[in-house]
Amino acid sequence: MQIGFVLRRGPSAADGVALSDAASSTAFAVAIYDGEGLAGPAAEADSAVGGALTRALAAGRFKGGKGQTLDLIAPSGSQVGRLLAFGLGEAEKLDDLAIEQGAASVYQAVKATGLSALTLDFGGFTPAQAARAAFGVALAAYRFDKYRTTEKPDKKPSIATVQVAVEDVEAAQAAYAPLKALADAIVFSRDLVSEPANVLYPAEFAARVKALEPMGLKVEILGEPELEALGMGSLLCVGLGSARESQLAVIQWLGADDPAAQPIAFVGKGVCFDTGGISLKPPEGMEDMKWDMGGAGAVAGLMHVLAGRKAKVNAIGILGLVENMPDGKATRPGDIVTSMSGQTIEVINTDAEGRLVLADALWYCQDRFKPKFMVDLATLTGAIIVALGNDYAGLYANDDPLAAGLLAASKAEGENLWRMPLPPQYERQFESLAADMKNIGGRPGGSITAALILQKFVNNVPWAHLDIASTAWKKPSSNPTIPEGATGFGVRLLNRLVADGFEG
Ligand code: BES
Ligand code: MN
Ligand code: ZN
Repeated sequence: MQIGFVLRRGPSAADGVALSDAASSTAFAVAIYDGEGLAGPAAEADSAVGGALTRALAAGRFKGGKGQTLDLIAPSGSQVGRLLAFGLGEAEKLDDLAIEQGAASVYQAVKATGLSALTLDFGGFTPAQAARAAFGVALAAYRFDKYRTTEKPDKKPSIATVQVAVEDVEAAQAAYAPLKALADAIVFSRDLVSEPANVLYPAEFAARVKALEPMGLKVEILGEPELEALGMGSLLCVGLGSARESQLAVIQWLGADDPAAQPIAFVGKGVCFDTGGISLKPPEGMEDMKWDMGGAGAVAGLMHVLAGRKAKVNAIGILGLVENMPDGKATRPGDIVTSMSGQTIEVINTDAEGRLVLADALWYCQDRFKPKFMVDLATLTGAIIVALGNDYAGLYANDDPLAAGLLAASKAEGENLWRMPLPPQYERQFESLAADMKNIGGRPGGSITAALILQKFVNNVPWAHLDIASTAWKKPSSNPTIPEGATGFGVRLLNRLVADGFEG
């Protein structure tokens, strides 16, 4: 699908697009603020169709609330296929997220109507706001359909072109460039998370990241011999039952003026499939565990956007890529492994594998790169879903400024975080008789004890852990910028953290 900007016909432009010459294959959409009735482009459109919008407003309950749309099919007085009014909520509360979601709602309302083009006419929008609208549509239009060979025609998206009508096309295009880079990165991340595990196994994930090198990223792929030499007995024990080789991908974006300046670092859990291993999961819903690499998917997406918009920062992305399978060679409950840090871990439950992967990936990261901070992302526990539901990820941090930066980024980007505690007294729950620790702390506070175990592999470096098991995958969704399926959660959040705090 093409997304772009066109000149809107208005007081200052005699040419440019307007409803009066929109084609029958076009949906033309105008914005309405909550309770403010018809103004600007909406009023112009209303007069072009002989007051049909006014009558439609009077005949229904649409008042311009956020996410609501009103759809007039083939109104007389113009050739247009559909005229839509869409709500942006209250004018004083208009922010970037409301614009994105308004534009995304319109796209969702018309995408499968059979029309081929959508024009969005806000009127009065700045170039930055118009760019936000385009961004919202780009996110809303995501589909993972590469494996479909047939589809009911009435479900197939028909919109091929989306144009946002603006007063200054060039300025809108310039404002859209960094958002386009972000949308591309979110799509990259969603694609990784959507891929089934027979296609996206550790080496294939690594290869897709390696293929980003032409963007200016440096990518090293470490295989099992290298990881063994590094002493990563914890990460490696997870993949022992898999026919696929475990991998560690080390991605560097050195965009700061001084390429030797201290970097920031991100670490992702990349369990390409999690059967639970010998502690096998029940069959119901096990297919969800193809997205147990959502943390690594988010970190890969972050590196993609940093390179895509040439961010002035040095950033490291580390992906721990493994597959957790039951097998004659698999790790058994009770096995004791030695991590790269030297600490030993008694593997009580082979389904608590993400922490085993991150233990070594975090240690390696701080050991090699001495970063300013580390943030890890992981679909770590079912317990975080119980605690927070499906619209918040858990945030754990040993550093208040880092937590505050993440919470501010979370608010700005609409990817919700809730800070959770790291109470030292809960560490008793994973004391082991035979080793330095067990890999599980029992049912109470399951997401918290998982985070406390990770913390054992973090030394004096500011660190945050995002448990995104709750947010990496969306059931039918209320947010029109996130279609059902892989969300790409974390990419825009971390991009904002970097942009607002660590560039230049
Ligand atoms: N990958 C799962 C966590 C998960 C659950 C992610 C649901 C997404 C949706 C993780 O590896 C896991 O199995 N965790 C166990 C830990 C337990 C054995 C201590 C869990 O949450 O049950
Ligand atoms: Mn597991
Ligand atoms: Zn897992």
